[in-house]
Amino acid sequence: MNEIKVFSPATVANVACGFDVLGFCLDSVGDEMVIRKIEQKGIFISHIEGYDLPYKAELNVAGVSALAMYEALDVDFGFEIEIYKNIKPGSGIGSSAASAVGSVFGMNELIGKPFNKTQLTEFAIKGEALASKCEHADNLAPALFGGFTLVKSVSPLKIVNIPSPDGLYATIIHPQIEIKTSESRAILPKEVPLNKAIEQWANLGSLVHALHSNDYELIGESLNDVIIEPYRSQLIPEFNNIKAAALKAGALGVGISGSGPSIFSLCKDLDTANAIKNAMQAVYNKTDIDFDIHVSPINTQGVKILK
Ligand code: HSE
Repeated sequence: MNEIKVFSPATVANVACGFDVLGFCLDSVGDEMVIRKIEQKGIFISHIEGYDLPYKAELNVAGVSALAMYEALDVDFGFEIEIYKNIKPGSGIGSSAASAVGSVFGMNELIGKPFNKTQLTEFAIKGEALASKCEHADNLAPALFGGFTLVKSVSPLKIVNIPSPDGLYATIIHPQIEIKTSESRAILPKEVPLNKAIEQWANLGSLVHALHSNDYELIGESLNDVIIEPYRSQLIPEFNNIKAAALKAGALGVGISGSGPSIFSLCKDLDTANAIKNAMQAVYNKTDIDFDIHVSPINTQGVKILK
């Protein structure tokens, strides 16, 4: 096999109470990438569609993660990468993570899978860091492993897979404004009050338990972010109205997806997810801001081969 096409999914990081550690994988939106073995040594990006991104591998997220993996290989051939980008950069649903994951996953498949998913995450972290100026894996891990993941530590990298109820659906609204991860990290406080930290880790612990025990009520009670949301929500138009409308339509909980501007909600079934979609739409229809909405079950597979 000299060529492979992969689907690299969008992801929701933080999941309200798990800043930089928790994430889950989406099904209905993602990038496609073609990775090809070529005679010339090195990593080459030969085609990009969808968004205007750099072709030079050292400047492209998919290229940087590919180079990190390539340096760990001793091969007398190279790789060419085509990127069909569907996830808008700066959308808050793991655009850079999808790019970083797709290239290393595809290369690994082409050479007989010498690396496990944790090792692929290590390479992908290098690409993600190009975009966010910081090494974190809360989008990368769910994109590679699927489902919900908890990044127990980055150094050494330890990823924990968390099960989730079968019926869980996400509705995500993406207002068409760009918030750069590096900028939305820069506005965060460097220290947090102890009482807020206590609330946050209690929520994270109970959310993980609720996902294990299919406890929808506890999922809802745990989806609260008392540390990051007060700062970042100010960058997102209509955030409080979207949250209120989604909760009224049956959402278990609502939060900022990754570093924003996307807003995610989780609910028990597809009908409720569609009702939340309508409620969110109604809020933004009253503004002049364009938006996309995605309804998706939790993708338990993660990045996958298309052909
Ligand atoms: N945990 C990251 C953040 C996700 O919220 O900044 C976005 O890359």
